[in-house]
Amino acid sequence: MTCFSSTDESAHYGFSVCMLLDQYRDQLHWAEEGVDELGTGDATAIADVVRGLPGLRVRSYDISASSVEQARVNIADRGVADRYTVELGDFFDQADSAGGQQASTVISNPPYIPAPDRDILMPELWGGVHGNDLVLQLLKAGYTNVISAVASYSDPLATVRTAEELGYRVVNFLAMGLDFGPYSNEPKVREHIRRLCADGHGWAGEDGYMVAVALFTRDPDLPGDRADQLVKSLQL
Ligand SMILES: C[S@@+](CC[C@H](N)C(=O)[O-])C[C@H]1O[C@@H](n2cnc3c(N)ncnc32)[C@H](O)[C@@H]1O
Repeated sequence: MTCFSSTDESAHYGFSVCMLLDQYRDQLHWAEEGVDELGTGDATAIADVVRGLPGLRVRSYDISASSVEQARVNIADRGVADRYTVELGDFFDQADSAGGQQASTVISNPPYIPAPDRDILMPELWGGVHGNDLVLQLLKAGYTNVISAVASYSDPLATVRTAEELGYRVVNFLAMGLDFGPYSNEPKVREHIRRLCADGHGWAGEDGYMVAVALFTRDPDLPGDRADQLVKSLQL
């Protein structure tokens, strides 16, 4: 097993989570409840967020043993081990067994690599045939607020419409263009992405794609709906 590594993508995820948590601090109740995280990776991006937001506690889960090992070192190095904890295991099993202590907000840069099967460079990054299996599962996990990365080639329109059917609105988001990295550049994946986009399940350019980190909510006290803007920012 390897550890997910993509500096630009992780930096965008961390920066966006930080800004959304800060801007919607009162409505997201994170100072009282903390937040849960699906997929720690090497933890550097969110460890910096925890360091920058006193009072934030993050309970994170990752299925990759080497990621958890690396994450614990990076978290300790940044001095936030008391507020950023990492468990090895499937988020959906672990969060269920946490004994009714679920926070109302979950954050994630979930696996979103679309491919016909799991046999890819890092199998833990497989997001199903359309790439959005994990974000859809997260939207069905019962959280009031979901802050998640949404990739332009992983059927984002279906993700946004499913979120709406589940009662979520898009409060806000931060979008950024990214170059294809080693995971999306794998020939089998690249060819699959090309086909998905040709079939209307997303967008990718010659060398890159878009990722937005969006705040989905079911909280009536968080007003507004930027779902259509999100879809447009992903070039759809
Ligand atoms: C795209 S990486 C993001 C890592 C980190 N948050 C970042 O942005 O740098 C997704 C991570 O989710 C983990 N993962 C995949 N499926 C998971 C699951 N069911 N439960 C917990 N973690 C999972 C992978 O091992 C991987 O480390």
